[in-house]
Amino acid sequence: MLDKILTAFRKTDAPSPHAVIVTVGLIAMTIFSAPNQMALQATALAVVLWLCLAFFALEWLMHAWTAHGDGRLRGYCLSSACVIDALAVLPVPLALLLGVLPYTAWLFASLWLFKLATVTPGLARLGRVFLLEARPLTSVLVLFVLVLVFAAMALHLLEGDVQPTTFGSIPQALWWAVTTLTTTGYGDAVPSTPLGRVVAGLVMICGLGVFGLLTGILATGFVEDSRRHSFLQNWNLVRHVPFFRRLEPAGLIELARMMRQWEVAEGTVIVRRGREGDCMYFVAAGEVEVDVSPPVRLGTGAFFGEMALLGSGLRAATVTAISPATLLVLDAADFRTAAAHHPALADAIEKEAGRRGGARQKLPKRRSPETKRR
Ligand code: CMP
Repeated sequence: MLDKILTAFRKTDAPSPHAVIVTVGLIAMTIFSAPNQMALQATALAVVLWLCLAFFALEWLMHAWTAHGDGRLRGYCLSSACVIDALAVLPVPLALLLGVLPYTAWLFASLWLFKLATVTPGLARLGRVFLLEARPLTSVLVLFVLVLVFAAMALHLLEGDVQPTTFGSIPQALWWAVTTLTTTGYGDAVPSTPLGRVVAGLVMICGLGVFGLLTGILATGFVEDSRRHSFLQNWNLVRHVPFFRRLEPAGLIELARMMRQWEVAEGTVIVRRGREGDCMYFVAAGEVEVDVSPPVRLGTGAFFGEMALLGSGLRAATVTAISPATLLVLDAADFRTAAAHHPALADAIEKEAGRRGGARQKLPKRRSPETKRR
């Protein structure tokens, strides 16, 4: 029941209940952690905290119950989801039972933050990026450690006698190296010899380089991951659109790479008559209506927006979504490339545009090997 309510919430645009409960709980915990509170305020905060805890306990029970019903209780008990559920519920009561003061025991409520990890899709993506980019990230980490150790040794040699309290040992010099390489620079340890300052300058430059590399690797990883993700989504849609069945797998892959997905709400005006058009659309799910006389409805597998690309460049009609729809958008440049590579696709689109009364241009098509020989 609770699971169903939470799933229904997730489908709406409302903030996740977990995010709301964790935020309320953490605010209550922060205020509660201050000693010497007024009795009424402390009681009110305790009630809020216990209610949050009760929600998480109930959710834990529901997860276990659902897993039991699906015959995967053992798998659930060994999963990270179960650990996160348990960490949200058990530590505070256990601490209270062991005699820890309430305002200290409730600090364990900060473990509720892990709940957010389970409902934040971006975190899963971050995890994937770290896994995918593990090799380059490890190389940069090794570089970081190398510079760190060499910098600490150099400064220990150069400044150890001059500033024994700061650079007298490698661990002491390492503290300076860490603050310098991370460009934090507290200023509590500063080289005073000219050579020491030269080394410090080099270490600072290396620090900037290392962080630049890390940022670049992670940014590339995110771009790659989202490209892969949208390719998989497009692929799933493209291969279920009947119109594309005429394409061989290589063609489908090419189109899946070119297209982007667009979810439109019911009533959205997708193209407006008279406006310039620079893309065409395939309906992967849902229904749209073309405001010609009489109006024409286009459902899954149909396409529209091709007439502007084949004719004057202006939209011949207004097209509106009459139900929530998933569209695959193909930009004009990609449309021409796809048409040149896949004559069957180009012919079908031209034929339909002609039937609708709009094809004035012929698409350039790649000649088949037989045509070339002749
Ligand atoms: P375009 O002119 O780019 O934008 C509006 C689209 O509506 C148009 O391309 C066609 O894809 C579509 N359209 C126009 N007339 C008809 C019709 N009679 N039947 C179906 N679709 C149409």
